[in-house]
Amino acid sequence: MFFVGFMGAGKTSVARRLARICSVASVDMDTYLERREDRRVKDIFAEDGEDAFRAIETDVLAELAAKDPLLVSCGGGVILREENRAILREGGFVVYLRVTADEAASRISDTSSRPLFQDLAAARARCEERLPLYEAVADVTVDTAGKGVAAIAREVQRLL
Ligand code: S3P
Repeated sequence: MFFVGFMGAGKTSVARRLARICSVASVDMDTYLERREDRRVKDIFAEDGEDAFRAIETDVLAELAAKDPLLVSCGGGVILREENRAILREGGFVVYLRVTADEAASRISDTSSRPLFQDLAAARARCEERLPLYEAVADVTVDTAGKGVAAIAREVQRLL
């Protein structure tokens, strides 16, 4: 199962919570990617650029899609490549956690590790632009506005 959504949607926390409830493993794609590459995401962006990061992200997604059962919290931009959208659609159940850029900004305490969440106006535009891409891969959508991790995890559980 995959969790997709914009940065700050709560994908990692919700996947972790649901994994505990269902006694299955969960993995955060960016954490996995950082260990595999032995580099921070922000350093990959700074040193090699976004395209290089996206190529690694596709490899990681394919690797994780082959491991089942596993709850995967995906990086917010995973839906940008058609190749990735195909992996998600074929790879299992996809939960889209919807959040506005403004709410995401209030949840993210440290934007320094997120190179694509530096400026709120740009984040709003990016969030809007990506909406149809998240919807295109989602089996279910959960609106996260004003909800905590436990409530969102319970809602996802009900939808399974
Ligand atoms: C990105 C989201 C980040 C990380 C990278 C790019 C994006 O993951 O993959 O900084 O393009 O939205 P989170 O959604 O876990 O913050």
